[in-house]
Amino acid sequence: MSEHVRFELEAGVGLVTLDRPEALNALNDGILAGLEEAFLALGREPSVRAVILTGAGKAFVAGADIKAMAGLSPLEARAFAQRGQRIFNLIEDHPHPVIAAVNGFALGGGLELAMACDIRIASEAAKAGQPEVNLGVIPGFGGTQRLARIVGRSRAKYLLFTGEVISAQRGLELGIFNEVTAPDLLLPRCRELAALIARKAPLAVSHCKHAVNEGTDLPLGDGLSIEAELFAQTFATADQKEGMQAFIEKRPAQFIGR
Ligand code: HXC
Repeated sequence: MSEHVRFELEAGVGLVTLDRPEALNALNDGILAGLEEAFLALGREPSVRAVILTGAGKAFVAGADIKAMAGLSPLEARAFAQRGQRIFNLIEDHPHPVIAAVNGFALGGGLELAMACDIRIASEAAKAGQPEVNLGVIPGFGGTQRLARIVGRSRAKYLLFTGEVISAQRGLELGIFNEVTAPDLLLPRCRELAALIARKAPLAVSHCKHAVNEGTDLPLGDGLSIEAELFAQTFATADQKEGMQAFIEKRPAQFIGR
């Protein structure tokens, strides 16, 4: 595990903390490796129901490490972008919901990382943007693609062309953030949300994620086919029997994740 990434697991909720505050958690090789390792490990752990990703100090992530990128050749730059994209896809495809607790700066690769998560809760202290044009480059960890999918092409282009750094409140208005909290309530709120999701039928939550991820970039009919197939699969689970029986018996359901 990278010295710059910590992770813990408690009551089905994983907490991954990027911990390189002296460089505002800028993504270098070590942090990327640690991130990959943490999500692979949490993916193998059957008790996980949700994961929270956050940063130590005043930043979530201030971007890819500019000092490490400065001397890259075009070939090396492509490999770096593809490596980050692969790791962020791993987060997006993680079987359980991943909540970004955006505690501070989420710039460049930092916003790209947050956008690979399923839900983004921001502290009032958060600032977000894709300032790559100030450096003579473009986003490379998915920013041009995920931002446009989240806020729409025109708003994404505005943010990409201007490099504007926006407040948490503006991010909320644009739909980049789901909620904004006071700084000291950020982690408690994310834990509360993760615990709420953890009480739902785990396979159903996982299938919801899969259906949205796989289906929404396809023609509607193809997305609906994916939905019908996953809906059918839930009827082969004990949790479907339990969930519906509990409703009929007017008692809380006890889900087991099968
Ligand atoms: C390397 C970084 C960094 C980064 C901050 N630091 N961001 N190092 N890469 N992205 C380092 C600074 O050099 C400094 O180290 C320390 O962190 C503290 O930063 P300061 O600038 O002193 O803090 P502050 O004045 O509070 O300003 C915060 C900031 C600023 C506004 C966030 O640091 C900033 O503009 N950072 C760069 C943001 C950015 O352009 N991100 C996009 C990167 S490109 P020292 O040692 O000097 O004290 C990108 C592309 C992704 O992400 C795709 C790749 C394929």
